[in-house]
Parts: sequence; C-alpha cells; structure tokens
Amino acid sequence: MITVTSAKELAKQVAAAKAAGKKVAFVPTMGALHEGHLSLIKLAQQKADFVVASIFVNPLQFGKNEDFDRYPRTLEADAQKLSSQNTDLLFAPSVDEIYPALTEGEEAKPTKQAGPIGAVLEGAARPGHFDGMLTVVARLFELVQPNIAIFGAKDAQQLFLIRRMAVADFPGLEIVEAPTVRELGGLAMSSRNAYLSESEHDVAEKIFRALRLARDAASSVNAALQTAQEQLLALAENGTRSSSSPEAKLDYVSLVDAETFEPLDEDFHGRALLLVAVVIGKTRLIDNIEIIF
Ligand code: PAJ
Repeated sequence: MITVTSAKELAKQVAAAKAAGKKVAFVPTMGALHEGHLSLIKLAQQKADFVVASIFVNPLQFGKNEDFDRYPRTLEADAQKLSSQNTDLLFAPSVDEIYPALTEGEEAKPTKQAGPIGAVLEGAARPGHFDGMLTVVARLFELVQPNIAIFGAKDAQQLFLIRRMAVADFPGLEIVEAPTVRELGGLAMSSRNAYLSESEHDVAEKIFRALRLARDAASSVNAALQTAQEQLLALAENGTRSSSSPEAKLDYVSLVDAETFEPLDEDFHGRALLLVAVVIGKTRLIDNIEIIF
C-alpha cells in the first residue's frame, strides 16, 4: 500500500492508475477503522481495480461542543488494517492540505449547503454538520477524481445528501451503498462505540432490537412508528429510572421515504427507512432499518 499525505502526490498516483486503464474506487473515512469500514474496502475491490481510502477527521463537520478533540485517532493501526486488506493507496492529509489556509487565523467555512434535508434529523441535532460533511466529501472527490465512491448505509442521511450532490456536481461519479456491518449482538459498528462502557454497550444493543421489532410489526406506517417509539422510549426510561443503568435519551425516531427523505403518509407504499438517534451517556449513536410497505 502506498501512503500519501499531499494532494499533489495523490493526484500523481491516481493519474498513473488511470493511465494503466484501472477503474478507481474511493472510500472516505475518519479513521478508527473497524469491520464496517473494511467491508467498504472489500466492496470497492469487487467493483474497481485501484482502491483509494482516505483518513481525515474533518473539523468542519463537528459542532463546537462535539467530540472533535476526543475523536479516536489511530493512524498507525488503521494503515496496518488497510494494508492487510490490500488497499492500493491511503490518503491521510493534514487539515492544511484539505483546507489551504485562507488568511492567517481565519477558519475554513463550508462551501456546500445541504439544504432543508440537511436541517432535519441528524441535521437538527447537529447544526452545520451536513454542510461540513458535504464540503469535505466534495473536496476529496475533487482531489481523488474517483470513478466510484462507496458509503455505508448506516449513515443514511449522509448517503442521501452525497448522492444528491454527486448527481448535481459530479456527473459520471457512481455512488455505491454498502450494507451496515453489525456486531454479533446487532449493534451497528461505529468508531464511537469505543466510548461506551460495558453497561452502556448493553443498552446500545437494544437499539437494533427495537428497530427489528418495529419492522416486523410493520403492518402499517403508524404501527411501525408506534412500536419503535414504545421500544426506544422504554430503553431510555430504564436508564433514567434505575441508577445502575446508564442514562439513555431518545433523540428522534422517524420513518421517511428512502428516495426523498420526506416523512411518510399513512398510505405510503414503497421503500422506507426507520431512522433513530439515541444518546447513551455522552455517546450519540445512530442506526436505521429498511422497511418495505
Ligand atoms: P466514518 O464515520 O469514518 O465512516 C466512513 C464510512 O464508513 C461511511 O461511509 C460510513 O457510513 C461507513 N460506515 C461506518 N460504520 C459502518 C458500518 N457499521 N457498516 C458499514 N459502513 C459503515 O462517515 C464519515 O466517516 C464521514 O462523515 C466522511 C464521509 C468520511 C466525511 O468526513
């Protein structure tokens, strides 16, 4: 595996791969890699000949009171994992490389706007998050110039917004969805799971159980939503009632049309996503499940 930190060296390597007739796939990450990330690399290898991964903890997509400073940074171990998976190239840039200093002391500003769908659900809880996310993804697309890019279904709203941006701004770039990789107990793998204590982890496992129950009870839109709400509120209440259980707060549970991210009418037919965000202790976790009505 080749590791590069400069945009110039990256461009050189990708150009050489393309000149050799290779199709280039791109997997952007923020590092602290787990099996979920590595499944994206494997899918990329099935779909292309030259796989580029990036590791960049993007300051622009973290709010002021979020975990940018304590976000796990494990570059050496990550590089080892990517190399074992036969990734062709790792791009691990500095903040300056991605956001060239404007004026001394001036902060980088988002250059992409996520619009109304960027302001609901995750966007409501994390103002500016999706503008910052789209800004870095666009910047990375420009630098890497991939033929395809792979994103996880776990971050459904992120994937939706990236797809929409790619259609508008990166014609010819194919966006591919990879299924959510879960632990044996069902918890969606996430770099943030590293923050969870053992008892918090036990509570976190109940999130996917609740989503599955809701999907299986989904005789109607209202029934699915009601089951999910009941299950998840019970999970949160347990945490508040008993001092031995960790605190859990249900941020939102929502059913949306998978194609538009708009809320569903009771007579909706088609592919929907049941989306949830729960804060356990200090850790915010998201998950979702597909429901066909
Ligand atoms: P990060 O959270 O590191 O995730 C990188 C990619 O891995 C995303 O596409 C995410 O959806 C996917 N992923 C995470 N957990 C997964 C799991 N359990 N199963 C399958 N895929 C999973 O998402 C980001 O970074 C950033 O917002 C980024 C797109 C890199 C822009 O900064």
